[in-house]
Amino acid sequence: MAAQAIAALDLQHITCAFGGNGTRRGSAAPAYVAVKDVDLAVAPGEFVSVVGPTGCGKSTLLNVGAGLLAPSSGRVEVFGEPLAGINRRAGYMFQSESLMPWKTALANVVAGLVFRDVARPEAERKACAWLERVGLAGFEDRYPHQLSGGMRKRVAMAQTLILDPDIILMDEPFSALDIQTRQLMENELLALWAEPAPGKEGAPRAGRAVLFITHDLDEAISLSDRVVVLSAGPATHAMGSFAVDLPRPRNVAEIRNQERFTELRAQIWAVLRDEVLKGYDRQRRAA
Ligand SMILES: Nc1ncnc2c1ncn2[C@@H]1O[C@H](COP(=O)(O)OP(=O)(O)O)[C@@H](O)[C@H]1O
Ligand SMILES: [Mg+2]
Repeated sequence: MAAQAIAALDLQHITCAFGGNGTRRGSAAPAYVAVKDVDLAVAPGEFVSVVGPTGCGKSTLLNVGAGLLAPSSGRVEVFGEPLAGINRRAGYMFQSESLMPWKTALANVVAGLVFRDVARPEAERKACAWLERVGLAGFEDRYPHQLSGGMRKRVAMAQTLILDPDIILMDEPFSALDIQTRQLMENELLALWAEPAPGKEGAPRAGRAVLFITHDLDEAISLSDRVVVLSAGPATHAMGSFAVDLPRPRNVAEIRNQERFTELRAQIWAVLRDEVLKGYDRQRRAA
């Protein structure tokens, strides 16, 4: 039982301040405290979404979990071990395009494995299996510009998942897609999250933990086991954590018609709405 209590990713009392001491706006400028004393844990196999207004510190928190940004104070644990440097148990998918435009789909997916010293024939065999898995068999030799936006996201998903991360960190990965493509990708993400990686079919479900950042509440509810709401910045903190007790497997388009979905949305929106308005107001005044 004790092992189950260990979080895959545990952000404890995280505070992130930027600038100050003359590094940003002159010597008189105080540091800008983006997030303050945030606690956020994701259990192994759990799908957690974080929602909050634009500029509240969602990406900042994800970067802390990825080990790309050291917090000003607080502690990060990965499967019970303190995180030092890059989080090697995690794979990332960001909002922007992450593919190398000069490499084919196959070469893009192979790259991470080759970087980890996997022999090329083995890496290519795995990459082909992953491209097939994300519905891109036959597109191995296409370059990113020869693929649609949705296909490029599929390549990026294969690129992330081929490394079989125990933790998947996603920062608004589908926000640039049209709504239909986006819902297709969300369903595929849920299917991939629920199944073992190619070659590990017989193994017990590893239980990848997902930390998914979005500003879209419907997306958060339809995908997640739990939705965490962040306050408007500065000094962003967690306002609440809502368990999403909707059945799985889910179709993200259809689950939105369920009565329970509407109830959850109203409940979470009641907390999020004021923060969105505050965030909007602060941005307008800052502009
Ligand atoms: N490297 C940085 N230097 C200074 N300010 C930053 C830096 N990164 C983020 N911020 C500020 O911290 C706040 C939170 O940013 P971010 O995490 O990107 O928000 P979100 O992802 O929720 O839109 C914003 O006000 C942003 O301007
Ligand atoms: Mg962001």
